[in-house]
Amino acid sequence: MNDDRSTPVASQDGHGQRVTELLTADAGGLSRAADLLRLGGLVAFPTETVYGLGADATNPRAVAGIYAAKERPSFNPLISHLPDIAAAEREGVFGPDAARLAAAFWPGPLTLVVPRAEMSRICDLATAGLDSVALRVPGLPLARDLLTLVGRPVAAPSANRSGRISPTRADHVLADLIDRIDAVIDGGGTNVGLESTIISCLDGEMRLLRPGGVPREAIEEVLGRKLLDGAAPTDEEAPLAPGMLESHYAPRAMVRLDAEEVRPGEGALLFGRKRPPGIETAGAIRNLSESGDLVEAAANLFAHLRGLDDARVPAIAIVPIPAHGLGEAINDRLRRAAAPR
Ligand code: TXA
Ligand code: MG
Repeated sequence: MNDDRSTPVASQDGHGQRVTELLTADAGGLSRAADLLRLGGLVAFPTETVYGLGADATNPRAVAGIYAAKERPSFNPLISHLPDIAAAEREGVFGPDAARLAAAFWPGPLTLVVPRAEMSRICDLATAGLDSVALRVPGLPLARDLLTLVGRPVAAPSANRSGRISPTRADHVLADLIDRIDAVIDGGGTNVGLESTIISCLDGEMRLLRPGGVPREAIEEVLGRKLLDGAAPTDEEAPLAPGMLESHYAPRAMVRLDAEEVRPGEGALLFGRKRPPGIETAGAIRNLSESGDLVEAAANLFAHLRGLDDARVPAIAIVPIPAHGLGEAINDRLRRAAAPR
């Protein structure tokens, strides 16, 4: 069984170099992507949150390829993606609260960390040896179609080099990973634009490990109680949660948060219609949402950070962003972008 796994899959040019295929978001592209994944290849694909760098989660050699391509510290466990709840229930054990959240938010931008099912095929490298698994049924139909074709859980972190800004378009993926992965499916821009919210459902406690595409308030509403914060105390030794690595999502430029004014030459990242003093001296300007809509701001966040960075400004001044709803996740990503490095 599974003897297809030992086949080398990377497309190669005449010199034995890996060449990244650009696949279209249609039946032909999906079928090629699924073949590559089943053979142990690395394929970046769109979800509603960000582009993921996928590998067969049951194949440790394939999963090792993710860490190599991203140059990611290998202690980070990965999210496994499934086409539907039934497939997720074969990999993890869902208590009543986890089941309620799955029913309310899947398919969608929510990841549930649950005890690993006895019959789970997800390899130890994908979970970093933990006895829990992080599972997600993505909201984008194209992603679920791909997962159905693959027929195995697909491990996928964001498709960027470690520490860089998450990709929300296929060209962002190529900028970081061209000729380090087998293929990317071009599905256009992602509509949520932030990674999934991660909830740990272990030991009867519901904890918010990473704010993301589903606001905390919506989850608390379904649970009928408050979420606890951070990793479970028993996880102290374990490879902790989400990008807990301080500096993450880092542009090349310095990042200045809660900016009340723009200094000459700085890039300006705005929100709403207000123009801060000094805006006329800005080296480049982007607005997350003219109308002050946090959903639109989340969708634009990573592309605008990249856009300002590509303008080669020395620093990016970011105006204050409200903290409610998706603002919690936006502010979390911005704090990481600003962390010392
Ligand atoms: O939106 C998303 O979630 C994207 C798309 C591609 O689905 N994926 C993503 O994956 O952001 P990644 O690998 O960048 O983030 C996974 C996070 C990591 O920070 C990891 O620490 C946490 O999930 N994680 C995974 N398994 C865990 C576990 N068993 N316990 C605690 N945290 C876990
Ligand atoms: Mg990431």
